[in-house]
Amino acid sequence: MGRNGVIQEEAKTMSNIEVLPIAGAVGAEICGVDLSEPLNNANLAQIRKAFADHVVIFFRDQKITPEQHLAFGAHFGEFDVHRFAAGLPDHPEVMPVVKEADDNGGNFGGLWHSDVTFYEKPALGSILYALDVPTYGGDTMFASQYLAYETLSDGMKEMLEGMTAIHSAKRVYGNQGTSINRFGAEVKSMKVRAGDDAEAEMEHPVIRYIPESGRRCLFVNPVYTIRFAGWTEEESKPLLDFLHTHAVRPEHTCRFKWETGSVAFWDNRATQHYALNDYHGQRREMHRVTIVGERPMSISEGERAKAA
Ligand code: SIN
Repeated sequence: MGRNGVIQEEAKTMSNIEVLPIAGAVGAEICGVDLSEPLNNANLAQIRKAFADHVVIFFRDQKITPEQHLAFGAHFGEFDVHRFAAGLPDHPEVMPVVKEADDNGGNFGGLWHSDVTFYEKPALGSILYALDVPTYGGDTMFASQYLAYETLSDGMKEMLEGMTAIHSAKRVYGNQGTSINRFGAEVKSMKVRAGDDAEAEMEHPVIRYIPESGRRCLFVNPVYTIRFAGWTEEESKPLLDFLHTHAVRPEHTCRFKWETGSVAFWDNRATQHYALNDYHGQRREMHRVTIVGERPMSISEGERAKAA
């Protein structure tokens, strides 16, 4: 069923939840849910469906404590505690994402990326809650990596299908270099550590199979993907550069304007995101809860698992 069919079906079956797409490619706003309350099964099912159909979902006008934030996240899996960025003292699974008004440096997440793809089991998704937002700027962009894959030529798809790539946190959290270059410029407003453990490498399929949807997505990103397995960095660069540009073509994206109380929940397996750093002089504070995902499956692994 196409996106329009999905939307019509939702409109027919939904009671108190409304799902309103915010762009043609990806992203929908969900109305009629209070995330501070326990969710009933019908609403949870609708949220899961909207997440699968739209890949990133948004809620407005929420007021949630860290406990309520975690209670919502617990419906989707176990929590990740970020290896390099500190969480709240009482809730290490809730990571503050902050840029202070007097910080004219880098912001956390200010380059296109998917979260923690250097893990063996990268995040299923992250749930980001806005506590304090600038009056303008500080939007977040999302790009569908389903569309990134689907719009490649058959020849390119065929070549990439059997390839794997090496991911690492070394460029962001590694010890090398004179100044620590995190997401393009130093992130001063957050407690972020560097370490030798950031040098570790992890191999993942370049085209990833998503079990629930049976769809394929492109799974490389410019922050954590270092090279193709068996290729040098120099050999990998031209093809990776092409894929990174293609992955985030404007027609694959949506852009979300935050208000205090907004929540975004993205499928990290099938999206990249980019936090715009265009609000120097204003404060922005978010809380992020990240859900652990599965080990990425190649198309052949996915199809074998489906047939079993
Ligand atoms: C992130 O990459 O998790 C941060 C996104 C944002 O602050 O909008």
